[in-house]
Amino acid sequence: MTESKLYIEGGRRISGEIGVHGAKNSVLPVLAATLLVAGTCRIHNCPALSDVYSSCRILRSLGCKCRREGQTVEIDAGTVSAYEISEQLMREMRSSIVFLGAILGRLRRCRLSFPGGCELGPRPIDLHLAGLEKLGARIFEDHGVLDCTLPGAVTGADITLTLPSVGATENIMLAAVIGTGETVIRNAAREPEIADLAGFLNACGANITGHGSSTVVIRGVDSLHGAEYGIMPDRIVAATYMGAAAITGGELMLKGVRPSDMYSTVSVYEQMGCSVYPYSDRIYISAKKPLKAIKTVRTMPYPGFPTDCQPIVMAVLTKARGTSVIVENIFENRFRAAPELRRLGADIKAEGRVAVIEGVPRLSSAAIVATDLRAGAALVLGGLAAEGTTTVSNLHYIDRGYESIETSLRSVGAKIKRM
Ligand code: EPZ
Repeated sequence: MTESKLYIEGGRRISGEIGVHGAKNSVLPVLAATLLVAGTCRIHNCPALSDVYSSCRILRSLGCKCRREGQTVEIDAGTVSAYEISEQLMREMRSSIVFLGAILGRLRRCRLSFPGGCELGPRPIDLHLAGLEKLGARIFEDHGVLDCTLPGAVTGADITLTLPSVGATENIMLAAVIGTGETVIRNAAREPEIADLAGFLNACGANITGHGSSTVVIRGVDSLHGAEYGIMPDRIVAATYMGAAAITGGELMLKGVRPSDMYSTVSVYEQMGCSVYPYSDRIYISAKKPLKAIKTVRTMPYPGFPTDCQPIVMAVLTKARGTSVIVENIFENRFRAAPELRRLGADIKAEGRVAVIEGVPRLSSAAIVATDLRAGAALVLGGLAAEGTTTVSNLHYIDRGYESIETSLRSVGAKIKRM
C-alpha cells in the first residue's frame, strides 16, 4: 500500500487559532528517563507522534509496562529486565540514543546499534560516549554495535562538552542522577527541553541544578520514585504554524505555548515585518503587510535561532521581498528543503552552510517530496502559499514531529487533505 500524500490547494490566508501539542524533543528523553524509576510515572501532554510510539515500543521491549490514556502515557518500569535495544528499533528512531544513558543508569549495562546517520548528515555521538566514559562507563564498539557497562556506582565527574550537544547533555544527566558525589557538565546545552528533563527527574527525587544554563550540576541520589509530569509545549511546532500565517499573509493565535522559549524565533518573524504579540501562554501573529527579506539569519545553540526552525523560515523567506541569507551553523546537510521549494518556483541557492533566497512574488504548485522532518514541514508551508494544488509525499517524516498537521491547518482555513 503506497504511503498517503497531502493535497494542498494554496493561496488561502490562514486565520484562527491552533492549540500546540507537547514537545517531541522533551517527551523523548523524559520517556527514556522513566527507566530510572522502579515504579510508575504518568507523563501528561504527550503528543501523538510516531517517535513517541517508537519510544513506547522500546520501553516495552526492555520490560516496562507502557500505556497511553489520551494525552497521558503511564510507564511502570518496576520490572525492567533487558538492557539491549534491537537494531530494528534503533533504526526506527535515531534519537533513541538517549536511552543509552537511562539504561546504563538503571541496569549498569546497555547494548544498542550505532544510530545511523540521518537525513541531516552524520550524527556523531563522540561527546555522548566521552561524557559517559568520564562517569566510569566502559564502551566497546564492534560492527556498529555499542556494548557499554557502567561498573560500580557513579561517584561524580567534571565533564566539559566541546560543543553544547543537546543529546550528550541529556545522556550524561541520565547516567549520573543515581549514584553518589557531584557531576558537573560544563558548556552544557541550554535548550528548554534540557530544563524540562531536569524538572521531571527532580520531580522523581533527583538533585539537579543549573539546568537551562551552561553549567548543570547533578548530585547523585540513591534512587528515584514515581512522579506525574506535564511536558512543555513544542516551540518548533509553534514556530511552524507561525510560519503558516506569515507565508499566507494571514493571522493566528497559538494557544498553550511558552513565548519565553521563543524570543529568537519571534524576533525573526518580526524582522520579516510580522506583528507578533506574546501573552503568558499564547502567541498572536499577523502578517498583513508584505514580508521583508532578512539580511542574515544564523542558526545557533539555544538561546540563538534554532536550527529546527531554519527550513521553516527558509520557506517563508521565499515570499519575502529582497535577498535573504541563511547560515546553518549546527548541521552539515540541512538545506534539503531548497530543491523541493525550487520546484514551487522559489529562488534559492544553497551552497555548504549558506543559502541565499531571492523573494519571488508568487509560488506555483508542484509534486514535492519531504526529505526529513522539518524540511517536510517547510514544504507544507510552501504548498499553502503556492497557487494551484501541491502534493507533498513522504509524510512519515512529518508525522514524526507533528500531530496531524493537516487537521490543525484545516481548522484555520487551509484547503488540505491527506489521501
Ligand atoms: C537535538 O538533536 C534535537 N533532537 C534536534 O531536533 C535538534 O536539531 C538538535 O538537538 C539541535 O538543537 C532531539 O532532541 C531528539 P546535538 P541532537 O547533539 O541531540 C554535533 C528535530 O527536528 N554533535 O545538539 O542530535 C551534531 O552532529 C531534531 O526535532 C557531535 O559532533 O543535537 C550536530 O552537528 C533534528 N558530537 C551538533 O553537534 C556529538 O557527540 C548538534 O547536535 C553530538 C553532537
